[in-house]
Amino acid sequence: MCGIVGYVGKSDATPALLTGLARLEYRGYDSAGISVLANEKISTLKRAGKLSVLVDALREHPLPQGRVGIGHTRWATHGSPVDRNAHPHMDPDDQIAIIHNGIIENYQLLKSELERAGHYFISDTDSEVVAHLLGIEYKASGDLTTSMQRVCQRLHGNFSLVAIATSSPDVLVGARRNSPLVVGLGHGENFLASDVAAFISFTKRALEIGQNQVVTLTSQSHLITDFAGVVQSAREFEVTWDAGAAEKNGFPHFMAKEIMEQPKSLADCLLGRLDEREHLMLNEIRLSDDEIRDIEKVIIIGCGSAFHAGMIAKYGIEHWSRLPVEVELASEFRYRDPIITRSTLVIAISQSGETMDTLMALRHARDQRAKVISICNTHGASIPRESDGVIYTQAGPEIAVASTKAFLTQIVAAYLVGLYIAQVRGLKFIDEVRDILDELGELPEKIERYLETSERLKELALEFKSAQSILFLGRHVGFPVALEGALKLKELAYMHAEGFAAGELKHGPIALIEEGTPVLVIMPSPNSPLHDKMVSNVQEIEARGARAIIIAAESDSSITSLRAIRIPDSSVLFQPILAVLPLQLFAYESALVRGYDVDQPRNLAKSVTVE
Ligand code: M6R
Repeated sequence: MCGIVGYVGKSDATPALLTGLARLEYRGYDSAGISVLANEKISTLKRAGKLSVLVDALREHPLPQGRVGIGHTRWATHGSPVDRNAHPHMDPDDQIAIIHNGIIENYQLLKSELERAGHYFISDTDSEVVAHLLGIEYKASGDLTTSMQRVCQRLHGNFSLVAIATSSPDVLVGARRNSPLVVGLGHGENFLASDVAAFISFTKRALEIGQNQVVTLTSQSHLITDFAGVVQSAREFEVTWDAGAAEKNGFPHFMAKEIMEQPKSLADCLLGRLDEREHLMLNEIRLSDDEIRDIEKVIIIGCGSAFHAGMIAKYGIEHWSRLPVEVELASEFRYRDPIITRSTLVIAISQSGETMDTLMALRHARDQRAKVISICNTHGASIPRESDGVIYTQAGPEIAVASTKAFLTQIVAAYLVGLYIAQVRGLKFIDEVRDILDELGELPEKIERYLETSERLKELALEFKSAQSILFLGRHVGFPVALEGALKLKELAYMHAEGFAAGELKHGPIALIEEGTPVLVIMPSPNSPLHDKMVSNVQEIEARGARAIIIAAESDSSITSLRAIRIPDSSVLFQPILAVLPLQLFAYESALVRGYDVDQPRNLAKSVTVE
């Protein structure tokens, strides 16, 4: 869960590395460092804290200009976030510098072996072991690529690695297993990074590095092999968004920008989904009509917000396709021996496409011969690459740790799968599917309309700034929205928050309500049979002193409270897409009034690439 970037080219490496690290900081931000190779010497500067701490330190202690370098932004797994645990790490002779993302599972064994041979370690990390092993191999072979291949054969676990060596000027060597690594192909300069965002300001041409592969880059060439040294081919692709999409564009935070981008993201997610006969078209899922007819059960897997998106999607997919849908936390899935057959369709939802829990669950499903499709926002990431088919959500890069536009588009993409299954199985007439798509098509305008009038949430955040605990209540599709609202508040404002299914209140949670407890209530659409039951739930909690804030449809005249937050009207299944908006804004504003870093909340990282 770290960001790594390497540069080899014609210019000074440091500015390119810092640009890349700024774009990768979402992956981890507890320390950062860079190494530059100049005059056959590696110079390194690394600091605990955010990237800005390193940038300040570089002003005081600039590194020599060199045309090869590596940079790292860290999310600590082994060893606390202090200077000496920051990357890059060196071998004992200062011949090699490496950066690493992932976990070396057998590092203790390797470390003990090295210690017995007289090695002394400066850091508490698993990564430093790799630097020492590479140092040994490099002394023996004098070739950085061969050394990397040999070392990788000894490593267990997940890694993307990039190394430079003093006697190999103009060479960067990287390797990956279960962790992301992409090549950026520039003019007279090349890049290696965890994510294309790191080099998008320099080039849009990229190469995918496959599992268990080593890549050797010079300023003019690239060579890819497996760990045994056998040459491999790689798929080149063009990044479809530009650097501006990864910038704040005048917004104070990425999260604010991403919330406001939601109308466009949703519209983009729906683009190009109709064929010339105006039938819903989802060729990307790569399932034949016969395979779709054979599906007996759908299982959705994901983590965090992606899991909540799956919980919402269940309602739509079951309703339209009449197939049973299970939704499971990816981190739990493979440990319960789930019942999966060739007729099971597994849908893995992940913004980053790199979440290790989801990747492992997906592999388990494939091992059991299930059909696996993914819903993903990141082109070329591991999860879509290992799926039978993929629907890209087209939300554009999401940089803030909190999922907003990705969450919304995940719901929509999963709904499209449900509608498509219904269409293929003949459960919905074409015009019925089109009516639903038309209604989906109205959502961007409704979202925009709501976002224009969202000032209220700032006042609410101020009012509840010091609340001990905030509760969220929902029913039916509103229940996962309540969970999502509570997750957002926890991760951004560090407040205790819980989401409940309102029907469960009387089975325990109502005991939490005391005088003044804030409760955000997602009121079902007035046309839902659950609407009146929720009205009773509100009366029950208010009778016990709760301060209820009701999120209700504009036309819901039964809600007279002046404190109600109004969202545009929609049908039952689409309400979550609108009801989550005030909850995103509430969490955002709460983090601000409490003085926290909205885009980079403590202890978190955007993509969780360790189990
Ligand atoms: O990249 P993914 O969608 O697989 O990430 C899953 C979760 O880690 C993610 O949704 C997380 O819960 C968000 N930070 C929530 O805002």
